[in-house]
Amino acid sequence: MIRAAAGMLQKWSSAMKSALIGVIAVLLSVETAAAQQDDPRMPAGPNRALVIKTCIGCHALSNLYSTVGRTREGWNRVLDDMTNYGMNVTTQERGQILEYLATALRP
Ligand code: HEC
Repeated sequence: MIRAAAGMLQKWSSAMKSALIGVIAVLLSVETAAAQQDDPRMPAGPNRALVIKTCIGCHALSNLYSTVGRTREGWNRVLDDMTNYGMNVTTQERGQILEYLATALRP
């Protein structure tokens, strides 16, 4: 009887532990995403929010602002690459994203 209770307690506490770890992981990832959304190194401009939302789905925004200086053609090729990696946007969104990249992150 005592053994069973101890076993239950152990199970319960390990379940609690993993629940807690899950909550912490979610909080941390939300915080990271929010911090990245406010990244001041992304220049202001139309469609900025859409670009950030789309691109942080896979990697840090530093991939964008640290490779600033592409022409519209260059960014268009990047978007082709990202589409090959699995980026999923509508044609309209792709146009808006390209517009931001080609103007805010131009050479
Ligand atoms: C489906 C996943 C995915 C999405 C969404 C995505 N990328 Fe990428 N991107 C990658 C991968 C994979 C790489 C290559 C590995 C790395 O650098 O992390 C990459 C690398 C890059 C690079 C560096 C590559 C180079 O040739 O220097 C740039 C610039 C870039 N991405 C821009 C963007 C932009 C802009 C967006 C949003 C419009 C975006 N990515 C969205 C997957 C993605």
